[in-house]
Amino acid sequence: MPSFDTVYVGFNAATMASNSDYGTIKDAAIAVKNGHIEWIGPACDLPEHKATTVNLGGGWVTPGLVDCHTHIVFGGDRSSEYEMRLQGANYEAIAKAGGGIVSTVVDTRKASAQQLLESAKKRLHGLMADGVTCIEVKSGYGLDLATETKMLRVARTLGEELSVTLRTSCLAAHALPQEYQGRADAYIDLVCDEIIPSLAKAGLADAVDGFCEGIAFSVAQIERVFKAALAHNLPVKLHAEQLSNLGGSGLAARYKALSSDHLEYLSDADAVAMAAAGTVAVILPGAFFCLKETKLPPIQRLRELGVPMAIASDCNPGSAPVLSLRLMMSMACTLFGFTPLEALQGVTRHGAQALGLGQSHGQLKVGYAADFVCWDIQQPAELSYWLGGQLVKHRAVAGQIT
Ligand code: NIG
Ligand code: FE
Repeated sequence: MPSFDTVYVGFNAATMASNSDYGTIKDAAIAVKNGHIEWIGPACDLPEHKATTVNLGGGWVTPGLVDCHTHIVFGGDRSSEYEMRLQGANYEAIAKAGGGIVSTVVDTRKASAQQLLESAKKRLHGLMADGVTCIEVKSGYGLDLATETKMLRVARTLGEELSVTLRTSCLAAHALPQEYQGRADAYIDLVCDEIIPSLAKAGLADAVDGFCEGIAFSVAQIERVFKAALAHNLPVKLHAEQLSNLGGSGLAARYKALSSDHLEYLSDADAVAMAAAGTVAVILPGAFFCLKETKLPPIQRLRELGVPMAIASDCNPGSAPVLSLRLMMSMACTLFGFTPLEALQGVTRHGAQALGLGQSHGQLKVGYAADFVCWDIQQPAELSYWLGGQLVKHRAVAGQIT
């Protein structure tokens, strides 16, 4: 007789274990052992066992949602910039005038770790209430060693204190801090020679990210950051082609990046390079919407090339104050032409792939983490259909309902 810790029954499952459909199992059962899925299939085929059986009482179970791109740790807020943008000011102009990312840096440097933890917890609770069980959290509002370290320590604490799987990224190459004005290469020296080595040594960064853009860093500067990351065995990813085309995604592909993110201005050649490199395209509809962007990311081309497309909240105080990943699924469908199936793939298997967790998260499959959500819906497509509402009935991380 197999030994399970808990067996869940009473739901249909969208396992997302297939690349081409929901991987549906009607009237399914999931057996959990040591936080992992030990058995999954139709309840009628469940082997005899002695474990506690929990009936979830109907609805659909999907893998827990993976939010693979967030900046949830930050000080202050930028609602005044939001008001300025509504009056016609633009994101790049605000950034060039000393607002934008750099203004959040001032507030993040001032904030204590405890203040950062409390405010980030509230945001994370919001995302979790809407189905997130796995999240990536970036630094990038410190831009000095002490504050980048403070941010990633806070991120690690979030992962320890809340029931969520959490991955961190060092985003020291996010913007040029005030004290380095006119000396961007000297700041990149600091990132490569001090910040990345120190965070890597402390085990605080799982990956290294950057912002390749006119208002941030050039391809050549980001390449130096990538070399430093690889020297410390850290995988890379990039914010690229958000406001213009600099070719950052081509660089990301050359460095076998986990993902290249935003991509409104992605060139065809770079899309082809991403496909060859296996780099995930992370689509961020919240930033597109909040910045009133009109250039659409080349979704049809990415689809044709077979580039896995993830969807994330990009939760941050400037371009995307987003606390619902389901709302991003809806926007990806309505604004970018995703199908509801692609949207769910984007926040499960492809989101996990973008974090290097494609072999352990984002699918309901034997051996994978028993992270799942039971939704109060009749069809999986409802996950990108409803805007708002409370669809989560139960949420389990490592097999425990939380
Ligand atoms: O992903 N593009 C760069 N970074 C963030 C925005 C950060 C901010 O405005 O504070 C983004 O959109
Ligand atoms: Fe971002």
